[in-house]
Amino acid sequence: MKFGIIGLGYVGLATLCGLAKAGHEVIGVEKDQPRLLRLMNGDVPFHEPGMADVLRDHHGSITFTDSIADTETADYLVLAVGTPSKQDGSCDLTFVDAALSEVNSKHKIIIRSTVLPGTTDMLSVMYPAHTFAVVPEFLQEGRALADVLKPHRVVIGSDNLEMCEELAGIYGRLGVPIVCTSPIDAEFIKYASNAFLATKISFINDLARLADKAGADITTIADGMGLDPRIGRSFLNAGLGYGGSCFPKDMHALLNVASENELDLPVIRAAMHANDAQMAYVASKVEPTSDLKVAFLGLAFKPGTDDMRDAPSLTLAQLLTVRGVDVIGYDPLAKWDFPQAETVEAALEGADVAILVTEWDELVALPPEAFDGMRTKRLIDARNAWKYARDPGTVQYE
Ligand code: UGA
Repeated sequence: MKFGIIGLGYVGLATLCGLAKAGHEVIGVEKDQPRLLRLMNGDVPFHEPGMADVLRDHHGSITFTDSIADTETADYLVLAVGTPSKQDGSCDLTFVDAALSEVNSKHKIIIRSTVLPGTTDMLSVMYPAHTFAVVPEFLQEGRALADVLKPHRVVIGSDNLEMCEELAGIYGRLGVPIVCTSPIDAEFIKYASNAFLATKISFINDLARLADKAGADITTIADGMGLDPRIGRSFLNAGLGYGGSCFPKDMHALLNVASENELDLPVIRAAMHANDAQMAYVASKVEPTSDLKVAFLGLAFKPGTDDMRDAPSLTLAQLLTVRGVDVIGYDPLAKWDFPQAETVEAALEGADVAILVTEWDELVALPPEAFDGMRTKRLIDARNAWKYARDPGTVQYE
């Protein structure tokens, strides 16, 4: 089969790679010229393991273009353009509209962008020539390819039975559970899943603050809880709070939909509040004395990515710098606008406080002597990952 993929960010490129690997012909459409040029040269514009190999190994069945008109002969068009948040938390559909208004002939359209409940039904009315299905993406950055090739489930939302059956046939080859439902249910499943995971993180972070005061170990508590299969251990790693391009945006969007429906969602609201409280709690551990220098170890919103969108490091840096603290950061891949060092040693040189902000393996594995260049050696493990936590004799640990 032939697929046109419109929008080649994380979701679009991961989908393109998955389809190419499954033996389909794919045409990727990207309007951003520098990004398009990089892709044409086989260069993946962000850090995502395995994608460059797929582009190389399947280059015969992959074409890149900046023109939606080149997808004319595709059996399916996959829409994976961005749906950024507006000021009020609602979804900005500018890119979705722009793409659809360029699709001239009648097509079967798969919405892969994250869109608010009700959007696909609205698009079906606005663009009646096409047939729509929404197939939400559940991939995690850093393991996008693995998630596309073996997702936990595939959710297909369409009112068109024929399209549902066709897509169930295509995705059926992945050998994973398939949920065929209405577009609005499929859209809800995406938001509900992200909101649940974010809430799980906020729950454990609430308890982490309490455990910190009470002298208990939140990792052991999470391990103990997670053995109950009704709870599960995943997404119970207490830390600095959730960030990234999805959870914060999706939580805001859900609250916005609720308020449009004259409803409040107290659990979602509390989870968001707890996320802010977590970052404020870590910031409150730093006493802003004069000339204080704090080294951030890790900047990306999570390890394994160079993505800084809504990274907790940014919020923490803002909370500290407004109190007159100097911050300097180090990250193996990510960049930010605050001062940044090229190496861990350079970041730590002369620092008073080091905070483990993102639990990259290389930062978790730092030996105690790595901190020798600090002016005063105070370490704050905002990710519960430094083993010094269990061996407090080595460095002054918190
Ligand atoms: C998230 C979801 O996990 C994906 O299923 C979803 O497809 C994606 O959003 C999306 O909507 O596109 P992602 O944003 O890549 O994926 O990141 P996660 O791995 O979920 O982590 C999100 C944040 O939660 C990170 O800041 C991470 O550090 C934090 N986190 C995660 C914790 O603080 N504790 C945990 O136990 C897990």
